[in-house]
Amino acid sequence: MAFVTEDNITDLAIERWSTAHSPRLAHLMTTLVRHIHEYAREVELTEAEWMAAIEWLTRVGQISDDKRQEFILASDVVGLSMLVVQLNNRFDGKATPATVLGPFHIDDSPAAPYGYDMSDGLPGTPLFLTGTVSDTAGHPIPGAILDVWQADADGTYEAQMPEIDEARLRAKYQTRTDGTYCVRTIAPLGYTIPMDGPVGELMSRTDISEYRPAHVHFMFDEPGYEKLITHLFQDGADYLDTDVVFGVKDPLIVRFVEHPAGPSPDGRVMDTPFLVARYDFALQPKN
Ligand code: BEZ
Ligand code: FE
Repeated sequence: MAFVTEDNITDLAIERWSTAHSPRLAHLMTTLVRHIHEYAREVELTEAEWMAAIEWLTRVGQISDDKRQEFILASDVVGLSMLVVQLNNRFDGKATPATVLGPFHIDDSPAAPYGYDMSDGLPGTPLFLTGTVSDTAGHPIPGAILDVWQADADGTYEAQMPEIDEARLRAKYQTRTDGTYCVRTIAPLGYTIPMDGPVGELMSRTDISEYRPAHVHFMFDEPGYEKLITHLFQDGADYLDTDVVFGVKDPLIVRFVEHPAGPSPDGRVMDTPFLVARYDFALQPKN
């Protein structure tokens, strides 16, 4: 073996990692080695900076547990999570686009009938989200499940409240035979990502906004269709163009239209003003 020099170390490390038993792992590791070596050369990484990065990554690991995933948050704020979403969800132009999952989804939300109020009396402006779920050719999908979740008026998700053991601002709705759905909830507000850990500490040394614009999360996993994880964002909301996790896409921005007290989209009569957002989801058929 050649002895190590500044010039040959990258080739030596690539050669060593090319022995990975799976060709995919060999490709992933040799490419990673090439890029991190290039990075260190380009920025002329100092030993103090290298140690600061190691200590930061250590704190990212130490604060993570089964409820909090600071590594995913780190990936979110550098745009890596959203890049991976883009690379893996190349739907055609008619399909509803995907965006980040985020850390707050909870499995097994309860089934909810058409128009069910998933806010269950929590404070906030009533909001109806209604429309259809169809395929990209416009054929309605009867019985499609919409797994829906969102933050409360303080920007907190149930997943951040260990004391809560009942579904809060989350439910699984189903389309009717004509593909229509209706979710009743409260209007979401923008909120900040968790800033009390190493990701927040690093961001506080920048001018980056820590806010996400107001949104509601949706997940579809219908047989015969590509899985879709997405959000709907409120048109005109703050932070749409600075979303800290790069999750906003133009087709996902919808108007929340104000209505006076009176008949609501689920046929019941509201005794207070309410908002209605109409959105027709289009799922990409599997090839
Ligand atoms: C969210 O929308 O719930 C979220 C996404 C990424 C990071 C933090 C929160
Ligand atoms: Fe969210």
